[in-house]
Formats: sequence, structure tokens, C-alpha cells
Amino acid sequence: MKAGIKVFAPASVANVACGFDILGFALESPGDEIIARPVDRKGLVISKITGDQHRLPYAVEKNTAGLAALKLMESLGMEDFGVDLEIHKRMPFGSGLGSSAASAAGAVVAVNEILGRPLSRSELLPFAVLGEQVADGAYHADNVGPSLLGGMLLIRDNSTLDYYRIPVPKGLTAVVVYPHIEILTKDARDIISPTVDLKDHIRQSGNLAGLILGLSQSNFELIAKSLRDYIIEPQRSKLIPHFAEVKETAFNQSALGCSISGAGPSIFALFDHSLRAEQAALAMQSVFIRNHINADIFVSKINLEGTIIY
Ligand code: HSE
Repeated sequence: MKAGIKVFAPASVANVACGFDILGFALESPGDEIIARPVDRKGLVISKITGDQHRLPYAVEKNTAGLAALKLMESLGMEDFGVDLEIHKRMPFGSGLGSSAASAAGAVVAVNEILGRPLSRSELLPFAVLGEQVADGAYHADNVGPSLLGGMLLIRDNSTLDYYRIPVPKGLTAVVVYPHIEILTKDARDIISPTVDLKDHIRQSGNLAGLILGLSQSNFELIAKSLRDYIIEPQRSKLIPHFAEVKETAFNQSALGCSISGAGPSIFALFDHSLRAEQAALAMQSVFIRNHINADIFVSKINLEGTIIY
């Protein structure tokens, strides 16, 4: 029996401007750490949570990591196996960085290892998505998929979790600016209109197709033309102070595109070169600082590995 398994599950950027609920990529950092240990007593228990300011529940079924692991164990008929789970949050809640998704992804990988790795990485995806659903009530894999599997993913269909890996061009670098305000995904989903104007749908579809083609062909010009969101960003950006100014700053610094990371408030921009990205990150952060809002920046290549076992 293994002594214990420690994993790192990365943050992720969902939506990627024109792919609401169906596009996402993993970052190199930040990320959560999950530890699973086999124990003698029966069943799954969350024994320790850190970095959450005492906000996360220890009740397994109410916790994203706990539920994801429990669903995995139940599906294998191994729910009586003794497992002790520790969750170390290394990123903020309600940040748009896919925090709950990372915990769910980390938990299924760690517990799968403890059980002798009965399932492959992609077979773990449905359980991680069920875990994240505890946090926002919706079933979508645009954060969980990249966090678990790495890379830039297209979730062609969330109900069947039919996903595809999109190639990423060399040099592509993401900047994420996280202003220290909290927006819960559920709240950011509740404000979205359930209907879409046909003209916006057509423009958005063109951009989604263009973005995927541009990424696949390393065509930065096409990526830059396509990285636009006509549907969700106009509705959600109202929740993020100084959004327009941060976006303008990113474009002034040669961003290929800039939009909301997941449900926000984090804002992401993509660049064709890491040096440009590093310079732009500071400029984008300074908009918040000037306006007396603390903000963290993350500059990262697309993380192709996803959750890793230490
Ligand atoms: N696609 C999701 C949203 C990601 O934007 O609501 C956040 O969970």
C-alpha cells in the first residue's frame, strides 16, 4: 500500500474570450496541493484544509475535492476504502482562476493513485466535473479539463465531456491579473442573459472558429483578430472595476487579445512572446494599484501537463 500521494493541480483560464463554457487552458501557477493517504478506518475523510480562511466545508459531499473523490470511489465500488484527504488552497476563491476546479482535479488524481490507478487521466474527468459542480451548480469542464489534463482544451460537448486538445503555438504566453475582489461564479452566471442576439452569435462563432484555426496553424494574426467576446464580456465586465482601462492597457502593450478569465474578476491577455507579456503584466497591474486595488499578476506559458504527482 502506498504511504501517500501529493499532487499539484494548476489554475486555469476558462472561456478564452469567445468560448464560453467550452474553451480553457491551464497555467503553470498558481495551483492547489492535495494529499491523499490510505488509512485503516473505512471511507473518505477530509482531515485538513489550509489556505481557505476556514471557508471550505469538511463534509465530503459539500466539498468540491471531497465529492469528486467520493464519486470516483463509489463508481469503482471502493467507497469503503480508507482515504484521508488534505487540501491546501494556494489560490483565492471567486478569482476566476478555476480554484474549485483545481481542487477537484487534484483530488481525483491523488485518490486514483491511492487506489492503484484503476482509471486513466481522461476517465477521471467526469468525477472532477461533478466535484466542481458543487461550487457553481453547473456542469462544465472548461476549468476542470485543463487543470486535470493540461493544455488548451475545446470541450465540444459538456454533457458527454467530448473534448479535444488544441495545439498551442510556440511563444504563446498568458498574463493573468487578479484584482483582490471576489466574484462568485454562481453570481456571475446568474447575471447572464439566457438569449443571444443572432448577429452576436454569428460574429462569436466566426471568432471561435478563427481562434482554433489560428492556434492550430500558429497564425498570431488570426488569433489576434479572433480573441474577442461579443456575448459574455459586455455583460460581466460591469462587475470588474477598471476593466476597460486594463484591457486598453493590454492592447497598448501589444496583446493579441484581452478578456475576463473565467467568471472574473481576473483579467487575462495573450501575447506572442514572454518578454512582451512580462512588461504588459506590470502595466496592467498598475491600473489597479493606481486605483487602490491590490492585484497579483501571473505570467505563464500554457501548462501542458495539468495535474502532476510529486
Ligand atoms: N465557463 C465558466 C463561466 C467558468 O464563465 O461561468 C467559470 O467556472
